[in-house]
Amino acid sequence: RLDLGESSSKRCVRMSAVVLEAAQATAVPTEPIEGQKTGTSGLRKKARVFSSGNYLANWVQSLFNALGDELKGESIVLGGDGRWFNKDAAQIIIKIAAANGVRKVYVGQDAVLATPAASAIIRKRKLYGGLIMSASHNPGGPEEDWGIKFNYNSGEPAPEKITNQIYEETKVIDKILTCPDMPDIDLSAPGEVQFGSDFSVEVISSVDDYLELLKEVFDFGMIRSLLSSPDFNFVFDALHAVTGAYAEPIFVEALGGKMDSLKNCVPKEDFGGGHPDPNLTYAKELVGLMFGGDGKYDFGAASDGDGDRNMILGKDFFITPSDSVAMIAANAQECIPYFKGGLKGVARSMPTSGALDLVAAKLGVPFFETPTGWKFFGNLMDAGKCSVCGEESFGTGGDHVREKDGIWAVLAWLSILAKKNEGSDKLVTVKDIAVEHWNEFGRNYFCRYDYEGCDSDSANRMIEHLRGNVLPSATEGSKMGPFTVAKADDFEYTDPIDGSVASKQGIRIVMDDGSRIIFRLSGTGSSGATIRLYIEQYTDDKTKMLLDAQEALKPIIDTALEVSKLQEFTGRDKPTVIT
Ligand code: G6P
Ligand code: ZN
Repeated sequence: RLDLGESSSKRCVRMSAVVLEAAQATAVPTEPIEGQKTGTSGLRKKARVFSSGNYLANWVQSLFNALGDELKGESIVLGGDGRWFNKDAAQIIIKIAAANGVRKVYVGQDAVLATPAASAIIRKRKLYGGLIMSASHNPGGPEEDWGIKFNYNSGEPAPEKITNQIYEETKVIDKILTCPDMPDIDLSAPGEVQFGSDFSVEVISSVDDYLELLKEVFDFGMIRSLLSSPDFNFVFDALHAVTGAYAEPIFVEALGGKMDSLKNCVPKEDFGGGHPDPNLTYAKELVGLMFGGDGKYDFGAASDGDGDRNMILGKDFFITPSDSVAMIAANAQECIPYFKGGLKGVARSMPTSGALDLVAAKLGVPFFETPTGWKFFGNLMDAGKCSVCGEESFGTGGDHVREKDGIWAVLAWLSILAKKNEGSDKLVTVKDIAVEHWNEFGRNYFCRYDYEGCDSDSANRMIEHLRGNVLPSATEGSKMGPFTVAKADDFEYTDPIDGSVASKQGIRIVMDDGSRIIFRLSGTGSSGATIRLYIEQYTDDKTKMLLDAQEALKPIIDTALEVSKLQEFTGRDKPTVIT
């Protein structure tokens, strides 16, 4: 029952438990390609680069070489964020997997899987790992970015040991094992095809396993009562990216939301030409609806290209990601069934504000401060020490998967809102929840300045200046502008589970009133250097809970710019993005 695909001129298998002859594996000669260095978020390059020659095939074969015999006879999952080249890339990867002894590839329908959904599938189906085709929040399309990453068997981004090995393999690769004569798989509908007795491909729903897991975490009935209420107006913006494929089944079909609550929820290969990053700069349409618009919406949220980031907004109100994780943690036990036994512990990345620390202290649960990067949370979660964690970079999540999870964060907030509104005659808003939280814990004013596309040498010189000149004189009790230093260091983290040490993770200056200045260079930029300046100031003065963050932070921002000599080193008099 070999059929022809509708739109494709290639041979294409229609899926419905088809059995075909085993595909013949062949070794195709190749040569190493420079610059295939894999980080924990995988490899990201221009889509034109990835889609030309053996660029993708070389990397995938190098990954399989790095995994070695461990991979033989195992099952993996494959999917991505729906960007340009994903569908063709999936066919290439399936053929290489078949020739490398993989037993089964599960593929998300249309090659679509949000990053947290892929993590959920790996865990639920106890797979060896998965391949996620995504460049996250980077723009997509033939002239934009493409990316791929490998996640391991608890659903977590590949550990460094594997990513380093992949890179080594990319430098010496001389052949690609593939099955050139294997027909392309029809990815447009669920079904399974078996090739001989050793290899099969199953196209699965992009949504079902993930939705099932979310139903175990949250009280869908309670959220449904809020979303279907005429007094509560919800809007979700998928920024034309992967969560568009999840929004209708989850927010509308499972939770009773209205179809017109969904904006930009048709995934596009180029994300509609936009930058699918949920923040105040790039999620412009949503920000327009929530701030100074007609005041229709009570709650707004957005997610990024691959569905792991989130932004939470109330009416004329922005919840910083640092506050979001603290507020979710504070309310988790009461509002989210998965956490009804209490939190095992909480964690945040170092530059994320200290709001979560205060919640952890009050709850009496273990608290961890990790370097920037989601991978640092995985060990804590696997060891049962962390239930909820978050980063200032719009990442929030729990230990139900091993990736940050945008839709999880939205459902966490809807759960809090639903619970607080039970039996209330006036709508309890996002702002009410935030103000109540600040009144209880105090407020950590926070903002981040990004200086993108700086000259790398200048940026490095500035960091060296901070390390070599500023840190040594920033001793306890010394003055810095109007502030008094309590401690200053270059952040170093010792993983409490495996003892591994990550050093030079950011210059941190903490003042005696709890204010903080942090400088670090981004590890995810694609050209030049991005300097990130993170600023925080704490107040428990109840008359100061609703100040504008920029105003409240002005003295400490000025101090940071002065001691770092940022303008002198980089020539920049203002940041490119403020979040
Ligand atoms: C990715 C990672 C996050 C990290 C963020 C910013 O989204 O998954 O863990 O916080 O990038 O990293 P950067 O090095 O650019 O500040
Ligand atoms: Zn992402």
